Amino acid sequence: MILVTCAAGKTGQAIVKALVANGQNVRAMVRSNSSLEAVKAAGVAEAITGDLAISEDVLRAADGVDAVYYIAPNMDPNERLNGDNIIAACQACNVSRLVFHSVLHTQIEALPHHWERHFVEQSILNSKLSFTILQVGSYMQNMLPAWEKMAETGVHRMAYDIDAPMSLVDLEDVSEAAVKVLADDGFANGMFEIAGPVISLREKAEILSSILGKEIVAEKEPLDEFLDHGRALGFSDFTLATMAKMFPYYDMHGLVGSDKTLGWILGRVPTDFETFARRTAAAFD
Ligand SMILES: NC(=O)c1ccc[n+]([C@@H]2O[C@H](COP(=O)([O-])OP(=O)(O)OC[C@H]3O[C@@H](n4cnc5c(N)ncnc54)[C@H](OP(=O)(O)O)[C@@H]3O)[C@@H](O)[C@H]2O)c1
Repeated sequence: MILVTCAAGKTGQAIVKALVANGQNVRAMVRSNSSLEAVKAAGVAEAITGDLAISEDVLRAADGVDAVYYIAPNMDPNERLNGDNIIAACQACNVSRLVFHSVLHTQIEALPHHWERHFVEQSILNSKLSFTILQVGSYMQNMLPAWEKMAETGVHRMAYDIDAPMSLVDLEDVSEAAVKVLADDGFANGMFEIAGPVISLREKAEILSSILGKEIVAEKEPLDEFLDHGRALGFSDFTLATMAKMFPYYDMHGLVGSDKTLGWILGRVPTDFETFARRTAAAFD
């Protein structure tokens, strides 16, 4: 049995789907009751609720599992507490492997949600657990909520410089890699960068124009406008403050990694943006 945390989120659903398709028994941990039905429909063996910030909940979730695939909440003030709870539960339950779904370049102090992960990674390294850390880049799928609007208005908007280089990775590749990593003890005690090919917003817009058969223009959304929109959608102050640091960093540096390790794990070339965009356009058709 493999415990997957944050199983109802964007990442969690993709990882659960891949594990279930691979015949694995999954115990899905979600926070809210309303998420239970979604993970049950995905075919998990067990679905439970719990809060990663509550040690008893995490202990209960890890009881009797062979491995833990730890997805942390996105931009959470309790990053280190959640990580400590997972590590303690894995130790108490003699879990044979802890896989941490981390982020690319946790050394970057200017990105608070990456920097906090740096401390969780250190705690894992010091835990004496058998671990694997996956340092995952930004997903191509992050543009999906705005896909239809982009196709309709002809504007691909993100709140950072349109020439900033980003190593965007297909979440389906990430999930395929996660299944392989969990199935192979050779990945124990290793830290692996899981990034996709480098591309800018401007280059994405050119590809989208050709696939959609209409001009798509890349545009930087002003940060204030993005934050106002996020506030209206109910983003927490913590999330907004984190994003207010993240986008200016992307403006200056982008976020790039190498896709070589992912290619090696998958045994094929990682999916590029054009392939992802063709698949997505067909799905929206
Ligand atoms: N998005 C990216 O491009 C990207 C790239 C690399 C890595 N990551 C990492 O992937 C992780 C997940 O990101 P995501 O975009 O998939 O997030 P998401 O869609 O917002 O999902 C997060 C899930 O976390 C659950 N959750 C929140 N607080 C919790 C708590 N205290 N205890 C238990 N569960 C809790 C929520 O469950 P309920 O729905 O039940 O409330 C939610 O479903 C993050 O750590 C992020 O850094 C993301």
